[in-house]
Amino acid sequence: MKKSILPILTYSSIIAVPLFLFIYAISYIFAAAYMYVPIQALLGISLAIFCISNGIELFVYKTGTKNVLRLSRHEVDQTKSTISHLVGSKSTKTITFNVKRFNNKEKQLELHKYKVQVDKFTSVLTALLKVKSHSDSTLSIRCSCNMGICGSCGMEVNGKPVLACETNVLKNVKEGDEIEISPMTGHPMVKDLVTDFDDFFSKHISVAPYLERKNKEEQYNAKEIYNQSNDDISKFLPYSYCIMCGLCLDACPVVNTNPQFAGPQALSQGYRYYADSRDQMGEARLELVNAPEMVWGCEFAGACSDACPKGVDPAGAIQLLKFEVMKNSLVGNAPDNK
Ligand code: SF4
Ligand code: FES
Repeated sequence: MKKSILPILTYSSIIAVPLFLFIYAISYIFAAAYMYVPIQALLGISLAIFCISNGIELFVYKTGTKNVLRLSRHEVDQTKSTISHLVGSKSTKTITFNVKRFNNKEKQLELHKYKVQVDKFTSVLTALLKVKSHSDSTLSIRCSCNMGICGSCGMEVNGKPVLACETNVLKNVKEGDEIEISPMTGHPMVKDLVTDFDDFFSKHISVAPYLERKNKEEQYNAKEIYNQSNDDISKFLPYSYCIMCGLCLDACPVVNTNPQFAGPQALSQGYRYYADSRDQMGEARLELVNAPEMVWGCEFAGACSDACPKGVDPAGAIQLLKFEVMKNSLVGNAPDNK
């Protein structure tokens, strides 16, 4: 943009205003000597100059014959595209949602097709809620926050586990403007797109997902702050972003073939608490996960880390936990930390 420091008060005004004030001052001096007629004449002249100069200024500004706030073609295009990105295009598209709904009585998935009008901002969750409100109120979905925080809207879109509220429809449509929606297969299905998380939470609890102090009195009535350095915090912080959405379990090939396996979410949380310098469970925490259905069940497929919407990297956490278990069995140096 060609910037003018003074877009309105440009040269003519800069000249006109002091001139007006100067003539006005002179008129006062003359007023004392020659009485009213010259004063009126001078005031009239100065006012006329002031008005004419500002009139010219306004004309120049309106017609753009001067470089006042004028944009180049490239800048106009850039501004238009920014505004259209912010405001959004009003164009909509009709997409066919092929929703595989779990029929609890028949114990099978049934295909239902819905046509939904979406724009470039519509998420899968918004589209499904539209279906529920306007076409088929029997469709069951679980959701809460609509902003990727509560972790309750997990489902499969085109066979990939995702959070429906964070998945854009138009970016995931397939040929023929269709999109496939189904419940997560890594969890027992309840109805339509809703799955049961009881087993998931039992596995989470099995790794003692809380800080444990040796002194119970101190644990519940702490008398001092447990200070941690940046280094202490960085050891567990990446794993503490888990929102318990269960997408990693759905993606995990081991969980899908061996339901006894604790799975990536629970084990990554096992490591999260082990790595926390405030925790004093030490060796007992490693014993909890030293079993075939715990860390040793992991085949390091890495699908869990790819699926995680929060970048937790459960696969990496399990390998770190395996290493700590091995180290402890060889040299027995699990820290009791404090
Ligand atoms: S580790 Fe990631 S994918 Fe797994 S439950 Fe937590 S947030 Fe969800
Ligand atoms: S509705 Fe909460 S994460 Fe999607």
